[in-house]
Amino acid sequence: MPSPISTEKQGNVLVVTSDNPPVNALGQAVRQGLKEAIEQAGSDSDVEAVVIRCDGRTFFAGADITEFGKPPQGPSLPEVCDAIEASDKPVVAAIHGTALGGGCEVALACHYRIAVADAKLGLPEVKLGLIPGAAGTQRLPRLVGAEAALPLVVMGNPIPAKKAQGIGLVDHIVTDGDLKDAAISFAQSKIGADIPRTSEMTNNQDGVKNPDIFDDFRAKNGRKLRGFDAPNAGIAAVKAAGEMSFAEGVKKERELFTQLMMGTQSAAMQHYFFAERAANKIDDVPSDTKLIDVKKVGIIGAGTMGGGIAMNFLSAGIPVTMLEMKQDALDRGTGVMRKNYENTAKRGRMTEEQVEGAMNLLTPTLSYDDLADCDLVIEAVYENMDVKKEVFAKLDEVVKDGAILASNTSYLDIDEIATATKRPGYVIGLHFFSPANVMKLLEVVRGEKTRDDVLATAMKLSKTIGKVAAVSGVCPGFIGNRMLSKRQEQANQLILEGANYWEVDDVLLEFGFPMGPFQMGDLAGLDIGWHRDPNKVTTVREALCAAGRFGQKAGKGFYDYDEARNRTPSDEVKKIIADFAEKEGNEQRDISKDEIRERLLYPMVNEGAKILDEGMAQRASDIDVVWINGYGWPLYTGGPMFWADTIGLKTVVDGLKKHDLPVSDYLAKKAEAGERFNK
Ligand code: 3HC
Repeated sequence: MPSPISTEKQGNVLVVTSDNPPVNALGQAVRQGLKEAIEQAGSDSDVEAVVIRCDGRTFFAGADITEFGKPPQGPSLPEVCDAIEASDKPVVAAIHGTALGGGCEVALACHYRIAVADAKLGLPEVKLGLIPGAAGTQRLPRLVGAEAALPLVVMGNPIPAKKAQGIGLVDHIVTDGDLKDAAISFAQSKIGADIPRTSEMTNNQDGVKNPDIFDDFRAKNGRKLRGFDAPNAGIAAVKAAGEMSFAEGVKKERELFTQLMMGTQSAAMQHYFFAERAANKIDDVPSDTKLIDVKKVGIIGAGTMGGGIAMNFLSAGIPVTMLEMKQDALDRGTGVMRKNYENTAKRGRMTEEQVEGAMNLLTPTLSYDDLADCDLVIEAVYENMDVKKEVFAKLDEVVKDGAILASNTSYLDIDEIATATKRPGYVIGLHFFSPANVMKLLEVVRGEKTRDDVLATAMKLSKTIGKVAAVSGVCPGFIGNRMLSKRQEQANQLILEGANYWEVDDVLLEFGFPMGPFQMGDLAGLDIGWHRDPNKVTTVREALCAAGRFGQKAGKGFYDYDEARNRTPSDEVKKIIADFAEKEGNEQRDISKDEIRERLLYPMVNEGAKILDEGMAQRASDIDVVWINGYGWPLYTGGPMFWADTIGLKTVVDGLKKHDLPVSDYLAKKAEAGERFNK
C-alpha cells in the first residue's frame, strides 16, 4: 500500500502532504509517514523549513476513531507530535477545512500555524467522551492561556480561524492566493529565526495566578456538562498544565485519557458518533440516487411548529412561502419568527443583516396558489386525519408535478395521507420536534410508496438545514413517540400505584434526562387535547385540568410554579392522584427508585426491539439517534438500545418479567442467545 504521506521539495522547503480521504484521519500509516517525513527533513541539509498540509477536503480531522479499542500500532500520535516539535527546522501547519482533535494537536506541535479564513480548529474529543490524548491539553494552554483553552478542551466546539487568531492559536490567515504557496513563503520567512516550541511557552500561568477561572468555568457551564465524565477530566488536565512541568502534565493527561477510554461513556459516545452518520444512510437506496433540487419550500401553518420549521430553511438560505388561513395568524406567525431571530442576534449568534437576510427570504401568503412552484411543501396543520387528507388533496391539485409533499405529523399514517393524492410516491413524513428551529432531530417517515429519490432528497436536505435525520417506517408514533408512549403508560400507572410523581421525574433526571414526564406535561400544557368538560374525568391529567391546573403557563400543573418557574410538588395534586387511584381501585404502596427506573425504561427497550423486528427502524443505532436528539436521552449512555446492550439484554428481560410487563419474542430470543442490538 502506498503511504498516504508524500513529500516534495520546493526550493529549501520540504512540503509534507497527507492524502488520506475522506478526512485525513491520523491512522497508523499517516503517523508513520509523518514521522518519516520529519526525519527526512532533519537529515537533508538542503531542507531548511517544513510545511505540513493535507490534500482533499480537510486538514487532519483527528485520530482515526476506527482504531480505538484495537491494539495500538506505533508510532503513537504523541511521539509524532514530539518529533515535529523537536525539529530544528521551522515547521508550519497549513490548515484548511477542520483541524480537529489529533489534527489540532499536530498543528500545536508545529512551530507555526497558518490557515485559510474558513478553516476551523478545535479539540472535540470531549464529544467522544475523551480528552485530547496527544498533549493537546498541555500545549494549548501554554500557547493561548488556560482561560482561552478551557472552552476548546471542555466544550469541544471548534472555532473559526479568525477567532483562533484572536487567541493566538493561528499565526496568520491566508485571505488570497494558494494556501500551499503562502505556507512555503511563510516557512521561508522563518528560516534562521528562533524556533517557538509550544511545550516551552508559559502563557498557561493565568490559571495559576487566578485559579478561580476553573471553578467559574465549571459553574457557568454546569448544566450543559451534567453527568458527563470527560469535561471534568478536561478541566483537571488544563489546570495541571499550569501547575506541572510539560512532561508531568503529559503524564497526567495520559492517565485521564486512558481512564476515560476504558469507561462506558466513551464507548457510548463513540457508538453515537458512528450511529449519527449511519442513520443518514438508507440501506436499500443507492448512494448515487439522483436528488430532487429543492430551491423553494412551502410551509402550511404559521403556528409554533410551522414557523419553527420555516426558520430552518430560511437560515440555510432557502426561500420559504408560508401559508395560513387568516391574516392575523399569518402576521402573528411571522412576528414570532422575527422575534426569535432577533433574540438570537441579541445573544450574538447572528448579525442584524443575517436576520434581515433570512426574513427577506420569507413570503407569507393566504393563497394555496402561491405554493404552486415549490419543490417541497411541508404541512404543519392540526393533527387530524381528515384535515391532513383535505390539505394533501388540495396540494396535489395546485403544486407542480415532481414536487415533494410532506407531512409533519407525529403519529398519523403517512400511507393513508398519501391516498389523498395522485402522487403517493412523492409523499413523505418529515417529523420535526418542537421547538423546530432548535431541536436537532428530524424523523423521516418512509411511506410504502415513497420514491427513493424523495427519501434520498429528504436525507440530504436534513444535513443542509443542520438536522440529524433517522428514517422510520409507518407505524403509530413512528420510532420516537411509539417508544415514548410506553414510558408514559408506566409513568401514569406508577403514580396510581403510589409512586410520588416528583420521584418519577427525579429518577429520569438522575438518569440524565433534562426533565421527567410530568415536568414535560406541565411544560407542554396539560390541556392539550382536553375535552374541556370538568365533569368528565377519566384520567389524572383530566382531573388536573378540571381543577384549573393546566401546567406551567397557568402557574400550576403537576407542580406549583413560582415566578422564576421553580417547581414544587403540590399537596392538592397528591390528593387528586390518591383520590383518583382509590376510585380506580388501585392500592397505593411505596415504590423504590429502582422499580421506577426499570418500569420506565425497560418497556421502551422492548418497544425498540419490536420496532426493529418489524423493520420500522433500519438499525438499532437509528433508534438511539432518535432518542438522543429528539427526547434528551443522555448521550453518555449511547441511547436506549446501546444502554440496553451495556447493561445486558438479559437484565432487561428479567426486569420486565419481574414487573409483569410484556417481553417481545425478538428481545427474548436475543437475550437468550446472549446477543446485543448493536454489533
Ligand atoms: N476517524 C475515523 N473516521 C472518521 C473520523 C475520524 N476521526 N472523522 C470522520 N470520519 C469518517 C466518518 O465516519 C464518515 O465516514 P462514512 O462516510 O463512512 O460515514 C466520513 O469520515 C465523513 O465524515 P462526516 O460524514 O462526518 O463528514 P463531514 O464533512 O460532515 O464532517 C468532520 C467532517 C467535521 C471532520 C467530521 O467528520 C468530524 O467531526 N469528525 C470527527 C472529528 C473528531 O472527533 N476528531 C477527534 C478524534 S479523537 C482524537 O483525535 C484523539 C486524540 O486526541 C488522540
